[in-house]
Amino acid sequence: MQFTQKEIVIKGNRVVYFDEGFLDGIPILFVHGFPFNKEMWKKQLIAFGDTHRVIAYDVRGHGRSEPGSVEFSVTQFADDLLLFMEALKLDKIVVCGLSMGGYIAINAVEKEHKRITALILCDTQCNADTIEGREKRIKTIALIRLSGLKKYADEMVNNLFAQASINTMPEEVTFIRESILHTNPDTVCKTLQALADRKDSCDELAKTKIPVLIMVGREDKITPPEAAKKMHELIPGSTFEIIDGAGHLSNLENTKIFNARLMTFLKSIK
Ligand code: MLT
Repeated sequence: MQFTQKEIVIKGNRVVYFDEGFLDGIPILFVHGFPFNKEMWKKQLIAFGDTHRVIAYDVRGHGRSEPGSVEFSVTQFADDLLLFMEALKLDKIVVCGLSMGGYIAINAVEKEHKRITALILCDTQCNADTIEGREKRIKTIALIRLSGLKKYADEMVNNLFAQASINTMPEEVTFIRESILHTNPDTVCKTLQALADRKDSCDELAKTKIPVLIMVGREDKITPPEAAKKMHELIPGSTFEIIDGAGHLSNLENTKIFNARLMTFLKSIK
């Protein structure tokens, strides 16, 4: 698949995205985790492009999308997602979000449930940060402001991947480290604050009536399987899949099983 970067200006802010695949198929909109960008979905865009329109965009400030001048928050990111859907005239869409992408997708469904017909939540959670988690983010912001992203990127990589992936997937590990290092430090700090401030969405998520697939890497240390199982138990009729051989980046670490589970789900909601 040839990837063409497209861009659109929404409320004066440039959003950069891929929009590929079978244009008549039901669109799937992929929302990346933090602090990555749309490139993390390339293997899914290739796999699903024969049957679906596949779209992945850079969240405000990440990848090539401009940060703009508004305050970062998960609610703002969800508003951005809905405006992006509107700009691309996407009336019926499946949204697939990983980690921060999941937080954004959950918030977007809360705000506008009619155009989102199904939800795929990968390596994410509906809980807000714990007090300790929040404090850790605030300390990290101070460290990054003081000394940049390098140490943060090294620590993140160790937390993001399953140990076996660190040993056997050097390309993916380098790709993720580079994605982190290429993110503007100001965006990383502002997004850390936004994540620390995000509200608990579990009660709202429990009201969801659309089909939901929840996937999580068995060795996800950041949003562990228990957090995913909690969402599954809250959402009647949701599908829950644990992906073996994966940490927090299940779409990259076990692409074959991730894509197979996603395909089965997409066929079930036709
Ligand atoms: C992500 O992958 O988006 C982040 O790990 C989310 C978080 O830190 O809560």
